[in-house]
Amino acid sequence: MSFDLVFFGGTGDLTWRKLLPALFQAWRHHKLPEGGRILAVARDERSDDEYRAFVRERFAAVDSSKRPNDAEFDAFAQLLHYRRMDLSKPEDYAGLKAWLAERGADTALMYLATSPYLFPVICEQLGAAGIVGPHVRIVLEKPLGHDLASAQQINRVVRSVFDERQALRIDHYLGKPAVQNLMALRFGNALFEPLWRREWIANIQITLAESLGVGTRGDYYDRTGALRDMIQNHALQLLTMIAMEPPSSSAADAIRDEKLKVLRSLRPFTPETVARDVVRGQYRAGSVEGQAVPGYLDEVKVPAGSRCETFVALRTEIQNWRWAGVPFYLRTGKRLAGQDAHIVVNFREVPHPIFPGTRRANRLVIKLQPEDGLELHLLAATGGSRDELLSPVSLDLDFDRAFPSERVGAYERLLLDAIAGRLNLFVRSDEQEQAWRWVEPVLDAWNNDPTGPRPYAAGSWGPAAASALVARDGCAWAEEQ
Ligand code: BG6
Repeated sequence: MSFDLVFFGGTGDLTWRKLLPALFQAWRHHKLPEGGRILAVARDERSDDEYRAFVRERFAAVDSSKRPNDAEFDAFAQLLHYRRMDLSKPEDYAGLKAWLAERGADTALMYLATSPYLFPVICEQLGAAGIVGPHVRIVLEKPLGHDLASAQQINRVVRSVFDERQALRIDHYLGKPAVQNLMALRFGNALFEPLWRREWIANIQITLAESLGVGTRGDYYDRTGALRDMIQNHALQLLTMIAMEPPSSSAADAIRDEKLKVLRSLRPFTPETVARDVVRGQYRAGSVEGQAVPGYLDEVKVPAGSRCETFVALRTEIQNWRWAGVPFYLRTGKRLAGQDAHIVVNFREVPHPIFPGTRRANRLVIKLQPEDGLELHLLAATGGSRDELLSPVSLDLDFDRAFPSERVGAYERLLLDAIAGRLNLFVRSDEQEQAWRWVEPVLDAWNNDPTGPRPYAAGSWGPAAASALVARDGCAWAEEQ
């Protein structure tokens, strides 16, 4: 199957840091379909060879296991092409159309790795130039809007040119292997599903913790904040995967319909529940992994006195028969104690304990990164002289070790799916809008609240109020258990 993959924003960070290394991996693993061309589009004038040299230089900054050697790069670079375009000029789209027509590939993918304010103009111009046929797909990178109105505006323009099945909205967390395994765990095995409900589960916690700060993205981040950057998309997508009903099939819309129902069942926030159930924080100077690091306000391109949140912890509930009354806690932050993304499913304690001493409920930990695996925490007899005393043990499954040759990174997976037209791991517009609808009251309440985010030391697990939030329900975060 031949394909043309066009990167708008072809010299931008996302393209050389994530997308091209992912495509290189797919090529190296012989997963990229033969007969592909990759076209980078940007504003300045360069030849194909100059662009290849630019990418070669940038690859030096890529993680060493993902870096090509010279011979590999030379071979991979043959796929790379470059085109100068002014994104507002119809004649430049006519030129692009002619370039695509030279070959008439089976699939033409327009990947919008630009600032979202350019999405409408690119879509309109693609439409006007007639780059819209059924073999064309458009891939939209986050941030997909800043709030519900701007997301709807982008979707309206996209819909005026492409139909929903041609529009692929990326949430790279959905491409992570652990998320695939969550689907497999729930719907490929009979073991857990009967227990996956309020009768057996006490609460569920989703943590997306980063030890990194905002780096050089201070200006973007300050306009965005942790709620928009991580909760509205990544954390909510994980929540839908954890909480959805079994879909009727593995078809993209069967899954997305179920995810949408979860989003619609989330308890809406009011100003009172935002004050009670949402904690926002901002990091101060501290120490991360033994290194002294500055506070958020001293990061480059962060405006003085910013009230942008770099941490959010919140409690919510899903209002349906399966989950009524079960707290779901979501937490994310920059400059936390570790780079650690996981989901903890805390089961209820046994209804009638007959063993004295330790009373610890079972816990299933779905590890997204840095490790990719599952941990099931149980109580077991130690085999010692007092067999009535139980000790905690865990069953550990490390997917990197179980399937060492199969693993592919999130962007590699999503790019291959986009080329093949597999839509399961892309977010539908109604899901995305519903997620905005749910977070907006939080943004509104914060706008009207003069107190601002709570400070926390870099290298900690966030403000103490985040611990108090779960302690109120008699729970604790994973690192406190
Ligand atoms: C991005 C956010 O979507 O996800 C970043 O914009 C964040 O701020 C990143 O660092 C985290 O992704 P990952 O895959 O490194 O956990």
